[in-house]
Amino acid sequence: MADLHVVILAAGKGKRMCSQEPKVLHSVLYRPMLHYALNLAFAVARKSVSVIVGSSEEKVREACSSFKGIQFFVQRDQKGTAHALSMALPFLKKQGGDVLVLNGDSVLLSSKQIRRLLEHHRKGGNAVTILTAEVSNSSGYGRMVRDSKTGNVVAIREHSDCSEAELKIREINSGVYCFQIGALLSGLKKITANNAQGEYYLTDIVSVSLSEGKKVGAELAQDPAEVLGINDRIALVRSEQLLRQRVNDKHMAGGVTIHDPQTVTIDASTEFGSDCELEGQTVIVNSKIGSGVYIEGNCRIVDSTISSRVRIRQGSYLEGSVVGEGCQLGPYARLRPGSKLTKDVKIGNFVEIKKTTLGEGTKVSHLSYLGDADIGKHVNVGCGFVTCNYDGSAEKKRTKIEDGVFIGSDSQTVAPVSIGKNAYIASGTTVTEDVPAGALALSRGRQVTKPGYVGRRSKRARK
Ligand code: UD1
Ligand code: MG
Repeated sequence: MADLHVVILAAGKGKRMCSQEPKVLHSVLYRPMLHYALNLAFAVARKSVSVIVGSSEEKVREACSSFKGIQFFVQRDQKGTAHALSMALPFLKKQGGDVLVLNGDSVLLSSKQIRRLLEHHRKGGNAVTILTAEVSNSSGYGRMVRDSKTGNVVAIREHSDCSEAELKIREINSGVYCFQIGALLSGLKKITANNAQGEYYLTDIVSVSLSEGKKVGAELAQDPAEVLGINDRIALVRSEQLLRQRVNDKHMAGGVTIHDPQTVTIDASTEFGSDCELEGQTVIVNSKIGSGVYIEGNCRIVDSTISSRVRIRQGSYLEGSVVGEGCQLGPYARLRPGSKLTKDVKIGNFVEIKKTTLGEGTKVSHLSYLGDADIGKHVNVGCGFVTCNYDGSAEKKRTKIEDGVFIGSDSQTVAPVSIGKNAYIASGTTVTEDVPAGALALSRGRQVTKPGYVGRRSKRARK
């Protein structure tokens, strides 16, 4: 595909979203809407990718920062899609070949469909080729008006400008077009804002090109769902549901059992090894899951890497964490960013871990908090242990617990502190000083037992 430039229109206000945020930055399956058009653009462009920005320009530019090599053109006043595209003309007029125009509010379009459009455009020698679709509800879209005898496209009519008869047309404009750059340059100049919305419509390029004797083509999308545009939040959620189903189907086809796929949400960047199983209501975002991993229901896993043979039980919440082979977590485990479980680690219910590494075979089975700590191998942490890592000053202090340490229940370490290899911390101990290897640390008060006390107290009360 030689000499293909891509321009994404993303300057509109998106009034129908009823939002302070620019429409193209609303999240669809955990990424900004605009990222889908950008991914597509970079998948097909051979020459350049441009984005027309305007409303909340700075925010939109910032949201594109993970994509390298974008050119931005600013449309100060939003006077319509033709006006938006004309912002790129100073650049395009120095280029040859074709330009593909994408709307920033479409998320389901595939590169396969775009390639078919380009092939049609080039084989037909068209000045402009429009991607269209047959839909059951064409409300809100521009309608493809065709000549009743020849069947050729003669115009695109926007919903608000349609006659009664035109409103019934089911073939719609997707907002995706391929132009020969030369034809675009001459056509854009002739578009006027003579319509119900008083805007410069890019769609008018069809009638303008035909009046110039140029060839206009239309490629019917194979899957009409691909061209859904997002103008309001209802359409956003519909597109998101279709996208979610597409992602889940891909994983199921690739060997992941998703027991209740309507309730499971996996973003487009998450990857799985073989033979994984997911129960319902789970959300997985930007994560890498190894083979043979079983994830029970109601879990949330974000920005994490999970190795093979891991089991994550009901209600666990993992963010920015690394979980090694054979680990078991939960139910209701919480791994906050910077947690690293090496291998065969067991984290039980109501345990919170943050910026902490746990060595092979270590167990933290119940009700504990471990933050800013380095925990060695085969450490046994009893119930209700807390690393007291924060003394109110600016920085958190670290705790070091070496291999083989036994920590009795209801203990605390007050950081900074370290516990040497195989040391034994008696339950109820508050560790405030370093404990050498092999030592016992015990800080609780001695028990006082008074035989017969309860009887004596009752007698006193009866008097
Ligand atoms: C547009 C098409 C319509 C098509 C539909 C497909 C026009 C006139 N209409 O309508 O035929 O069926 O898409 O989804 O083109 N934008 C700007 N600057 C502007 C106006 C819009 O950059 O001044 C951008 C928006 O940010 C958006 C895209 O252009 O990404 C389309 O604008 P939108 O208002 O959504 O057009 P639709 O009414 O959906
Ligand atoms: Mg739209």
